[in-house]
Amino acid sequence: MINKSDYKNIYEQDMPLASMMNRDMYGIIKWCTPSIHPHVSRINGIYDNDISISYHSLGNPSINTGIFKKAHNLASIAYQSEHTLFSVNGSSGSNFIVLRSLSHQLKKVHMLAQRNVHKSISVAAEDYNIDINYLQPHYDQDLQIFIPNTIEEFVDGIKKHPETNVVFISNPTYEGLSIDLPRFVQRIRKINPKIVIFVDEAWGSLFPFSDKMPTSAMQAGADICVQSTHKQSSGLQQTGMIHWQGKRIDEKFVMDSYKSLITTSPSFHLLASLDAARFLMQTQGENIINDLISVADKLGNELSKISGVKVIDHDFITKKYSQVRFADKTKVLVNIKGTGIPGYEIAKNFESEYKVILEKYEAENIFFIAIMQNTEYDAIETTKRLKECIEKLSKKNKRSKIIFPDFPLEIKKSLSSYEVINRNIISIELKKAIGLICAEDVVPYPPGIPLIAKGEIISKEHIDYMNAIKRLKGLISIVMSDDKIEKILTVK
Ligand SMILES: Cc1ncc(COP(=O)(O)O)c(C=O)c1O
Repeated sequence: MINKSDYKNIYEQDMPLASMMNRDMYGIIKWCTPSIHPHVSRINGIYDNDISISYHSLGNPSINTGIFKKAHNLASIAYQSEHTLFSVNGSSGSNFIVLRSLSHQLKKVHMLAQRNVHKSISVAAEDYNIDINYLQPHYDQDLQIFIPNTIEEFVDGIKKHPETNVVFISNPTYEGLSIDLPRFVQRIRKINPKIVIFVDEAWGSLFPFSDKMPTSAMQAGADICVQSTHKQSSGLQQTGMIHWQGKRIDEKFVMDSYKSLITTSPSFHLLASLDAARFLMQTQGENIINDLISVADKLGNELSKISGVKVIDHDFITKKYSQVRFADKTKVLVNIKGTGIPGYEIAKNFESEYKVILEKYEAENIFFIAIMQNTEYDAIETTKRLKECIEKLSKKNKRSKIIFPDFPLEIKKSLSSYEVINRNIISIELKKAIGLICAEDVVPYPPGIPLIAKGEIISKEHIDYMNAIKRLKGLISIVMSDDKIEKILTVK
């Protein structure tokens, strides 16, 4: 017979994730995705009302019929596209759908891309034999963020690689930096009107709904884009949209990839949450965005009162980098170098002791996103807790110093990633790998952007950066084959 107190232990041991969700997800302040408006229409009965495509009269999402087609069409009006599809595997899944469809339509894709691509792009490129030429990136080593490439760098890239038939850009960047997208589109069209412009707009789902946001990919005239509705626009986790327009995209290839890659059992709750999110943004988007900016402003003003804490002014970034036309004001980047405490220690402590979750942290910076659940009270309370957290950590004798090398920027491509798979691959000690061709993507989180991509030459700077992460013992993670960060896969 199990006694009553054992139930708790059984629950925690046997269902760690389920018990955590039912126990711990209360009373926390979140400055991270998903952004869910308290008044977005709720989809009821997550267990009781779930259905499947066996309910034939509703239509079928994967071939875009019935009620799904109706919802997609309404979304395409709201997002100003010609076609829209809902995704239940975030922008990660949408990027696969788009790249599969382009590789079938164009036969061979030669893609010019900014370096700060999400891993779904690099992995899909490998799977679909896509040749990617990355532009040399810009990275602000103090703010620890990627800075977009200039439009002229893209133009030069096309001249250097005249075979380019797709130009890819993540716009805005994770931290909300956006280029002048309409000019970018015009400039590329002028050089070669056949080139497909594909925008990863995972962080731009708010853009079509306010003048305080930059021009969206569809408004700017891009051909196709993906968005993560769950990140900033009230869709449930995993939800996103694919939008496209114009003649450069052949609908039959997109539909074939959508049908092939989307699960045959998509959650109707997730799909319906996209319909509700679209309606909310279409009817209330402008006010909601004003509220988000005002909460973010409040947070920035409050945090800047803490000694050693510097809230980065958006204008500072747009003035420093002329290619940055716009910075998303719902995002708050905070440099904490002046406190002497590493960002990863602050973030870890803030989460475990103070129940405040940040979107991202680096060695010298922490990053907040104002989401639709946040209030001005959260801004005041977060500041109070952060001040206390920093004071407590300052008194600790044994705390780590901020020592972190610069993020290595030089890219030396030797092979395309899909060519690496057919070579002999060996795992080798880090220090012996300098000068060899890397046979895996090495991706530190944060920032989630490849430090080395498959097919590139490994440098001493890469190894120094990996060793710095290794010394942090898990405070910053790195995705690679050897989780002990001792060996790396190379081409023999
Ligand atoms: C630029 C970019 N693209 C795609 C993704 C993947 O989005 P999702 O989490 O919706 O799959 C991310 C995730 O952070 C991202 O930053």
